[in-house]
Amino acid sequence: MKPLSHYSAKPSHYNKEAEAYDAFNENHSRVINLVLEGILKNHKVKTVLDLTCGTGSQVFWLAKYGYEVVGSDINAKMLKIARKKAKEQKSDVKFIKGDMRTVRVGKFDAVITIFNAVGHLTKSDFERAMQNIHENIHEDGLYIFDINNLSYLLEGNNITKLTIDWQEMVGDTKVRQIQYSTIDQEGILASFDTCYTQNGSDKPKTSKSSQTLQVYTAVQLQEMLQRAGFEVIHQCSVDGSEFIERKSDRILTVAKKVRK
Ligand SMILES: C[S@@+](CC[C@H](N)C(=O)[O-])C[C@H]1O[C@@H](n2cnc3c(N)ncnc32)[C@H](O)[C@@H]1O
Repeated sequence: MKPLSHYSAKPSHYNKEAEAYDAFNENHSRVINLVLEGILKNHKVKTVLDLTCGTGSQVFWLAKYGYEVVGSDINAKMLKIARKKAKEQKSDVKFIKGDMRTVRVGKFDAVITIFNAVGHLTKSDFERAMQNIHENIHEDGLYIFDINNLSYLLEGNNITKLTIDWQEMVGDTKVRQIQYSTIDQEGILASFDTCYTQNGSDKPKTSKSSQTLQVYTAVQLQEMLQRAGFEVIHQCSVDGSEFIERKSDRILTVAKKVRK
């Protein structure tokens, strides 16, 4: 099969899945949200900028724990859902539209980009985003993010562990998503989806799509962060356990802004 090229995602990338996003992903975020809150608490963080907030999974979680949080994302549909949830919860959290490579919101104790979000960028655009994140953080502040671990995905048959077959009700519609993935030495993770949607007893509609993510080894991330003015102070698995290069499926990285 011809390998797919990887480009930074367009702002519209999540348009199709925005409505069903929470039904499929909200439960999967709980573990990382819990670990994230523990890290922020240990570092006495008070203000957080979430630069890839999506529908607000981390934003609402952290606001509940008393953090002052601002959510930003490039996709208008994901933001619309986040704002609707804020209204329903009578939350005064602010959501703004912005690109993590360029948006300037102010100075925060920590910036976060969670759930493989930076994989949507090419390597060079991620370096650009890191430099912009640097500008949005106080001196000695933190940048915290997770991404799939390339060393794990290249090991044995681990890539097949990403295969999914999920079914959820989204309103009155039954949605089934089947996905398999491939990985190459350059860290291009390609996923191929078949999605069936069925309203009541109507004939199911089938749609096919594919997407790519850029994934990294722990060492590659350390080198890139160092070039952008950060020092990696901790890397662990997304459940907070010790990071093991060929065994941890994702890498949660905590980097500190270095004084220039
Ligand atoms: C997998 S979702 C994660 C959302 C949320 N953090 C969560 O855990 O549910 C990735 C998000 O990154 C956003 N995104 C992708 N490229 C972006 C960019 N260049 N700037 C800002 N947001 C971006 C997408 O719109 C999407 O909402």
